[in-house]
Parts: sequence; C-alpha cells; structure tokens
Amino acid sequence: MSKVNRLKEDLIKTGEFSRTPPKRIERYGQLDPKKGITRLAGTAESWKIRDYAVEHMKEAGLKVKIDKVGNIFGHKEGAKTNKGTVMFGSHLDSVINGGMFDGALGVFGAVEAVRRMNDAGFENERPLEVVVFTGEEGSAFSPALLGSSVLVGELSVDEALSRKNDMGQTLAEALENIGYKGSFTRSLDDVEYFVEMHIEQGPILDKEGISVGIVESISGIAWIMVTILGEENHAGTTPMRMRKDALVAASDIISFINRRASEMVEQLGAATVGTVGKLNVFPNGTNIVPGRVEMGIDIRDVIPKNMESLKNEALQAMPDIAKKYGVDIHTALPLMHLPATLSDRVVNMIDNSARQVGVVAKRMNSGAGHDSQNMTEKVKAGMIFVPSVNGISHAPLEWTNWEDIEKGTQVLTQTVKNLSRL
Ligand code: HGY
Ligand code: MN
Ligand code: MN
Repeated sequence: MSKVNRLKEDLIKTGEFSRTPPKRIERYGQLDPKKGITRLAGTAESWKIRDYAVEHMKEAGLKVKIDKVGNIFGHKEGAKTNKGTVMFGSHLDSVINGGMFDGALGVFGAVEAVRRMNDAGFENERPLEVVVFTGEEGSAFSPALLGSSVLVGELSVDEALSRKNDMGQTLAEALENIGYKGSFTRSLDDVEYFVEMHIEQGPILDKEGISVGIVESISGIAWIMVTILGEENHAGTTPMRMRKDALVAASDIISFINRRASEMVEQLGAATVGTVGKLNVFPNGTNIVPGRVEMGIDIRDVIPKNMESLKNEALQAMPDIAKKYGVDIHTALPLMHLPATLSDRVVNMIDNSARQVGVVAKRMNSGAGHDSQNMTEKVKAGMIFVPSVNGISHAPLEWTNWEDIEKGTQVLTQTVKNLSRL
C-alpha cells in the first residue's frame, strides 16, 4: 500500500469504528455535523483503537509495553545505545462527539514515520519510541493530560488509577476491563527528545493556506471542578424565596466566567478564554427544583498572571453566589498547567526538516493543551501542526485535508530521522 494510503487508511478505519453506527468517511463532504466520534479513556471504543494501534506498532517492528496507567510504548533499538531516545506520539482518547484526527493523527503519523524509515532502510542511531498517552482529554477521567502527567511524575500512579468517571468507575477498573492496566514503569531518564504531530484545532494555518505549523509555546490551562449542593423540591409548590436552586447558582457562575474572560480580552487585549463546557444537573427533571449541579470550568491564557487572576476571581466569587442562593459550593482544582515553551533545539530541527522536505511551515503558538506541555518539562519537546479546516475541532466537522497530513508526516519523519542522528 502506498505511503499516503497507509496512514489515510489507519485514520479512516479508526474513525469508522469509533462512530455509532460505524460510518466510513474519506472526505469532508461525508461528515455528519451531528455524528462525531466518541472514544473516552477506558471504554470499549478506546480498547478497539488501542488494539489497532498495538497491532500496527508490532507490524512496524516495535517492541510494545504498557505501563501502569495504560500508556503504550513501542520501542525500536538504535545503533548507538549510549544516546538518548527520540520519543514521538500523542493520544487516542477523544472528547465526547469529537473528531477523527485529534490525537489519532499523532499516533498513527508516528507509526507511519517508523514504517517509512523501515521502508527506506534508515538506520536510526538513537533508539526510537512511539508513545500513546492515556486520557489526554480528561473527558472521562480528570485531569486532562493524565497519562503524560504520570510519565513526568506530576501525578502519582495511585492517584491516577483512583480517578473516577461519571459512572463512578475508577481508571484502574476501566483499564482492567480493556486489558490495558500494565505493570511496566517508564522513566524518562533515557529519553532526550519528544515530538508530537497534532491538528491545530484553530483557524490560523487553514486561513493562511499553510500546511505545517511549528509550535513554539502552548497556552496554560486550569480546570475548576465545581459541585453545587442546593435542595431538590417540587417546582409547583415551593415558593421562590424558599428555594435552594443549584442550577440558578450555576448560571451565575457560567455568566461570570464568560463576562470576565471577555472583559479581559477587551480591556487588557489578553488571549484569555473561559468556558463552562461540562454541566450535570441532578435530578434533571422539568418539574423539580435542581438540588445538585456538577460543572467543569476551563480557563486558559498564554500569560500565567491572566490565567491565575481569572481562576482566583472565579474562586472568590463563589461564596457570595452560595449565600445569594442558599446553596453550598465545593471546588476542586484537578488541572493547572502554566504556559509551556517548547525546546528551541527541536523547534529549529522541525524548521530545518520542513525545509529539507520542501514543505512551507510557520512558527506559531498553541491555544489547545497537549501532552507536549508535560513532556517539555523533562525532555526537549516540539510539536508539528497541520491545518484544521475552518479551525473546527472537538466537534464532528473536525477535518484535515489528506495532502496536509502527508506534508505533516513528511516533516515528522524527517525530524525524527534528523534527531536520531544528532
Ligand atoms: O483541551 C485541549 O486543549 C486538548 O484538545 N485536549
Ligand atoms: Mn489532542
Ligand atoms: Mn482534544
């Protein structure tokens, strides 16, 4: 099978079996704006794509190991064992009803890069290692960037395995169920470089008609998980002044986040973004005053002080809102990553590699979070972006054109080759 079709087929197939009902999608026009893909960490869908990835990693001659939180590592020895490993990869879990490229492109692009080096009889001096991180999205088990947080030592294995999804299942149980709760511990002591290919998930490259982005920095990200406890009661008989309505209290918090983030952009020219994307209402009946609400707040900025100030303002606003509606508000901060700068050495190497393969590339920042922002804390890390059509991602209409994927894969392959020879 020719190179482009191999990777294209991996992405089409894994996109197909991650949809309900399965649907083979080869071009943008076939996308259904209502029906995306859902592969939450630890579910049967994530099991299927993990098995597919392991099978193709082994076919590419990689020695596969699974660590205690389900991270997958595919290793290929190098000619020089005294040189640091070049690691490259991404994640396979998705958001709810998301797109078929977020994460999967970086994993199967990495496997394709190995296949191309094999085809060319390329002899890598440094060891090479493809990695698949568990639970990057945090859409099942909070925090986001879970697998790479354990790998860099930010989150303990026990802490990660005890995290629960909305069904009350622990990550340990979920990984056990799908056969991906390994016993291996990967230290990063022997790893020197990390490269991740990923869709941009924003509009810049698509708007400018550029096929490849070279990421220099990644936006900071903070999550505040909020639980609001009011009092369930009859919607018809409970007088307004006697209510403890958890959802009305939540609505004040949602408006506060949106208003303050927008004001910071207006007044400070900041790149601040604030979102409440997760809202669970209990018991969620039209004729019941909501007694409990769980919500997830996502705050980001490329400037640490802006992110900190919006996060702190939100936490400080909660007691007044609780008093106003007579509810209790509990908060947790499962995720806090300052903006990350990627390695100059890797950024320059990606730039040179793009020139070598004749691909026009643009240096840029990432508004989306990635495992690379963990990896850059421990090894020299870099990212290669390819365009997202109309800048859409985390939605069924997420799409990247095949010719851009091919160019991104050429740059990734060349970058890994060059790094493996440093
Ligand atoms: O949320 C993010 O920025 C990433 O797509 N996980
Ligand atoms: Mn991603
Ligand atoms: Mn994502």
